[in-house]
Amino acid sequence: MATFGFIGTGNMGGALARAACRGVPSDQVFLANRTAEKAKLLAEELDCRAADNAAIAESADFIFLGVKPQMMADVLADIRPVLAERKSRFILVTMAAGLTIARIRELAGGAYPVIRIMPNTPASIGEGMILYACDGVAKAEEELFLKSMAGAGKFSPLPEHLIDAGSAVSGCGPAFADLFLEALADGGVACGLPRAKAMEFAAQMLAGSARLALESGLHPGALKDAVCSPGGSTIQGVRTLEQAGFRGAVMDAVIAAYEKNMGLGK
Ligand SMILES: NC(=O)c1ccc[n+]([C@@H]2O[C@H](COP(=O)([O-])OP(=O)(O)OC[C@H]3O[C@@H](n4cnc5c(N)ncnc54)[C@H](OP(=O)(O)O)[C@@H]3O)[C@@H](O)[C@H]2O)c1
Repeated sequence: MATFGFIGTGNMGGALARAACRGVPSDQVFLANRTAEKAKLLAEELDCRAADNAAIAESADFIFLGVKPQMMADVLADIRPVLAERKSRFILVTMAAGLTIARIRELAGGAYPVIRIMPNTPASIGEGMILYACDGVAKAEEELFLKSMAGAGKFSPLPEHLIDAGSAVSGCGPAFADLFLEALADGGVACGLPRAKAMEFAAQMLAGSARLALESGLHPGALKDAVCSPGGSTIQGVRTLEQAGFRGAVMDAVIAAYEKNMGLGK
């Protein structure tokens, strides 16, 4: 039975640890964090094991690196001697924005098998979009990883050179969607809706629209046209958004995030 170790149990490491506990027996999941209390509390909640970085580096089959990109060098420098001593096979799983597989190997001190993932915050409720690229990983190991982590959401393989671009859409995207969500609700409040109702209507509308696009496979332009009656109210809202440069602003947000991702690896 494979073991899953998480070094860093913040927003994303914690969300993925939750997902792992949905897919594998929780006594196979080990959590470590700089502020150890955080890992301990989460381990208690998930009924899995608290550990420390060295113990995870020493024995986990999948070692998730859940620290910020700027902290990766220090974390890997600390566990590098332990990894070098290992006799059993292990896979490093990195989720750090902007850090390539080659860079992770360089910092870890060996040409170890690596799965580079780019998750997003909806993974915490099993609705994540997780992009991934493997290097040095056997097909059976990839399949085991996907099966074990399926509780995080949908996984999609992507050539590594496209991960930074994908990350700007699905990794950063929840923040852009949340701005839109908040603005929709604010608009509703401005029109007299109670805040809680406005939030519920906006969020369910966004979730439903996303699902409709995914399930129908229709172009968003066609879905938009289906809402806009000739001479109606929706097209007036569409005109207002276009005049404000809505689509250009969203494209610029994705490009700005992509450029920042590229810079993180340097
Ligand atoms: N958040 C997202 O939406 C998102 C999306 C895609 C990818 N990611 C990636 O996920 C990674 C984590 O991001 P995050 O948002 O989860 O950050 P976060 O909430 O700040 O979590 C980072 C965690 O790492 C811990 N940590 C720091 N140094 C450590 C060390 N030496 N040993 C063990 N644990 C250590 C921190 O512990 P303390 O409790 O002591 O601070 C903290 O709990 C990043 O590489 C990021 O690029 C995040």
